[in-house]
Amino acid sequence: MQEKLEQIRRAIGEGIGDTGSRKELFELKMKYLGKTGEISALSKGMRDVPAEERPAMGKLVSDVRAWAEAQFAAREEELKKEELKARYESEKVDVTMPARFTETGTRHPVNIVKKEIIECFEGMGFEIYEGPEIEKDYYNFQALNIPADHPARDMQDTFFITGEYLLRSQTSSGQIRVMEKKKPPIKILSPGRVYRSDSDATHSPMFHQMEGLVVDRGITLCDLKGILDEFARRLFTSETKTRLRPSYFPFTEPSVEVDLSCHNCGGRGCRICKGTGWIEILGAGVVNRRVLENCGIDPDEYTGFAFGMGLERIAMIKYGINDMRYLFENDVRLLKQFRD
Ligand code: PHE
Repeated sequence: MQEKLEQIRRAIGEGIGDTGSRKELFELKMKYLGKTGEISALSKGMRDVPAEERPAMGKLVSDVRAWAEAQFAAREEELKKEELKARYESEKVDVTMPARFTETGTRHPVNIVKKEIIECFEGMGFEIYEGPEIEKDYYNFQALNIPADHPARDMQDTFFITGEYLLRSQTSSGQIRVMEKKKPPIKILSPGRVYRSDSDATHSPMFHQMEGLVVDRGITLCDLKGILDEFARRLFTSETKTRLRPSYFPFTEPSVEVDLSCHNCGGRGCRICKGTGWIEILGAGVVNRRVLENCGIDPDEYTGFAFGMGLERIAMIKYGINDMRYLFENDVRLLKQFRD
């Protein structure tokens, strides 16, 4: 029996060194220490050992068992560490490696200006309304006090789809749509695409406008001036001033053309303002009482003002772009300059 024990001890010593995984180690352990394992078989075999030798033999067996258990536990620890190390190795991340480059787009200058204007007016309590681009003659012209034979139609060379439908030539059509649905107080800002048969360095057949409309009791041209002053300071510089000049639009009375003091020279006169110190920026006026009537709003009770501006024009002024066509060519050399 002693010999057998010695043999087991050697076999375990060698076998353990050869195990490469915890699974293999477990199988080996079962072979010796499991219920039907070899060491357990020896314990059972004690019955056949003569009584006087039993205590000594029993001690030998239990010594080997204790030794074997310690050996397996030690190897188990070793293997655990090795497996962890292998896992760390395989999951290793090199934090100094350069990141994969993802090309991101940039906001288009017209959209930058649009966003800034919206934020400015939202801050003053305006709601956003977006109307349809395919519009009825009624909303684009008639309800805005421009009847079919009116010479003011010549101001905007319009793309007609049918006799009744057209591509809207101004976001002013949105004024009517809003006033038909909503009664005062009204305070809306309406951005959108508009279309005119016109194309050169300062005109494009499709461009963007931003319309503003305020209708309530006691609204005057002074309110318009105050709001536009705030807008001019926010969009350009805190020094920017506005100037109103008389003008004509069928849907406003009186009508004005609004200039900003030149943000480049501060009004002294430069290339950008063509030496005048002022830059024309939008059309506006007090809403014509006929327009209010057309929308079922009593002009003796309510008054309002409206304004409309071209976003391309504002982007050109703000960023010193001298040809509108650059804004539609999508040349990345231009667009990249607007990465924010
Ligand atoms: N719709 C006018 C245009 O496109 C601008 C405007 C809007 C004028 C609102 C007055 C009031 O020229």
